[in-house]
Amino acid sequence: MEHEVEQIKIWDLPVRFFHWALVMGFVLAYVSAEVGILDAHVLLGYCLIGLVTFRVLWGFVGTQYSRFRSFLFSPAETINYVRAIRTGHPTHYYGHNPAGALMVFGLLALLLAIFMSGLVTLAVIDYEGPLLFLANQVSDDTSYFFRYAHDFFVDVALLLIPLHLLGVISGSIQHKENLARSMVTGMKKVVKADLS
Ligand code: HEM
Ligand code: HEM
Repeated sequence: MEHEVEQIKIWDLPVRFFHWALVMGFVLAYVSAEVGILDAHVLLGYCLIGLVTFRVLWGFVGTQYSRFRSFLFSPAETINYVRAIRTGHPTHYYGHNPAGALMVFGLLALLLAIFMSGLVTLAVIDYEGPLLFLANQVSDDTSYFFRYAHDFFVDVALLLIPLHLLGVISGSIQHKENLARSMVTGMKKVVKADLS
């Protein structure tokens, strides 16, 4: 039987904008902290908080493939997917696959941890920001602990990001599709018969 291949929209504009703005914002936030421009760092931090808050809301009300519900897989399905990667025949998913979904949730959780620890650090060390009321309620040791935690969460993100890229590259090879380009155009090739 012959299958007709067509392009369908998987990633809507808000998800694509979110992704590339996040990549740019993350790099700029990291660099501004490393070179010590705290004002720019905090401003970028607030923008990133807004961006990720928007994505979390979009995960509940957005279009089909952007909804969290569409890439919420059971542990068994995730393990099966990872096992199938080794045999070379994993199921093809149009949205995030189970391994990718795990990485997405991990990165989002990590970003929230970076934001929370950043906001607390801003309050208890620099006496600024919306959590200022915490400033006189913690000891010096605790204050530095939050700064350490912020740095630690960023380091974990720096470990996960290369794994994320590795997942994108291996998924692209395995399913013979360019996942990075799909995150730009929003489109993916699908076999028409599969859609019914
Ligand atoms: C993805 C976003 C972010 C990244 C990648 C990031 C990264 C970093 C890094 C690498 C440092 C240097 C840590 C050190 O060596 O001590 C830092 C420090 C800091 N960050 Fe962030 N950060 C982010 C978001 C935020 C947010 C949302 C806030 C608060 C609004 C924030 C507030 C701070 C503060 C107050 C410091 C301490 C600066 C100092 O006094 O030394 N960061 N951040
Ligand atoms: C140039 C570097 C990057 C490339 C090429 C890239 C590529 C991609 C691709 C292709 C996807 C979709 C995966 C799929 O088809 O299932 C994706 C999703 C995602 N990536 Fe990246 N990524 C990059 C950097 C980053 C960074 C630095 C972060 C975090 C700071 C990040 C966070 C995410 C998140 C949260 C998603 C889920 C998108 C959503 O559903 O809203 N990515 N990335």
